[in-house]
Amino acid sequence: MPNPAPIIEARALTRSFGGFIAVNNVNLSVTPGTIHAMIGPNGAGKSTLFNLLTKFLQPSSGNIFFKNQDITLTAPADIARLGLVRSFQISSVFPHLTAHENVRVALQARERDTFSFWKSNRKLRRFNEEAMALLDSVGLADRAQSKASELSYGRKRALELATTLALEPEVLLLDEPMAGMGTEDIGRTAALIRRVGKGRTILMVEHNLGVVADLSDKITVLRRGEIIAEGTYEEVSSDSEVRKAYMGGTHG
Ligand SMILES: Nc1ncnc2c1ncn2[C@@H]1O[C@H](COP(=O)(O)OP(=O)(O)O)[C@@H](O)[C@H]1O
Ligand SMILES: [Mg+2]
Repeated sequence: MPNPAPIIEARALTRSFGGFIAVNNVNLSVTPGTIHAMIGPNGAGKSTLFNLLTKFLQPSSGNIFFKNQDITLTAPADIARLGLVRSFQISSVFPHLTAHENVRVALQARERDTFSFWKSNRKLRRFNEEAMALLDSVGLADRAQSKASELSYGRKRALELATTLALEPEVLLLDEPMAGMGTEDIGRTAALIRRVGKGRTILMVEHNLGVVADLSDKITVLRRGEIIAEGTYEEVSSDSEVRKAYMGGTHG
């Protein structure tokens, strides 16, 4: 079967800071419906590449395509509206609101309705129900009335994910979703990512190789700004260049 057209594509993407090339001529294709991870030793350029793909940084050269549309010059807010949404860092959770209120705010933001003040009761009721369903989907139904500030770290991130899902993303971009989590939260979050990945595309940067092995359909390995290997976990973990890159170096 021929490969489906990539949903995200980077062509010859390059970014330098002063004279230093952090991302060097990267060609990346993300297949729709897959969970795709970017890994690599500390300083490899993962965050820079992620920020380029989410438009938080402008490339020095090269192009980014979303469904064949060139989004190299598109603003982050506009790509979010196209269905390419970055979670865990952009989606701010309001600490003083309850989990349910946080998701409802996100749902209302999606509507971008100038006259939202005048929303009908019916519409508000629909938001309430939808917010509850989203909380349920991330395992927070029993925490709906808890203030966000009172949630555990892992649950806060689940709530962030719920507010991101409220935007109905087709592609979810996750920057180190497991960062700072303990074992229990990692297990729960991995299961959650797998669940929300159904029918969506997920592109993530993640340090936890166990999680990467467990979740990813495809893995891109970066070192010093360049792709050194790509494939399944079995493929990249047996690659000699990858082994070299990880040996002795920091995994950070
Ligand atoms: N804003 C910046 N200014 C200067 N150098 C940067 C900047 N951002 C990243 N770098 C450099 O680019 C390289 C790649 O960084 P980064 O993308 O954060 O790597 P990773 O996320 O893989 O650890 C590093 O050497 C880093 O010091
Ligand atoms: Mg980083």
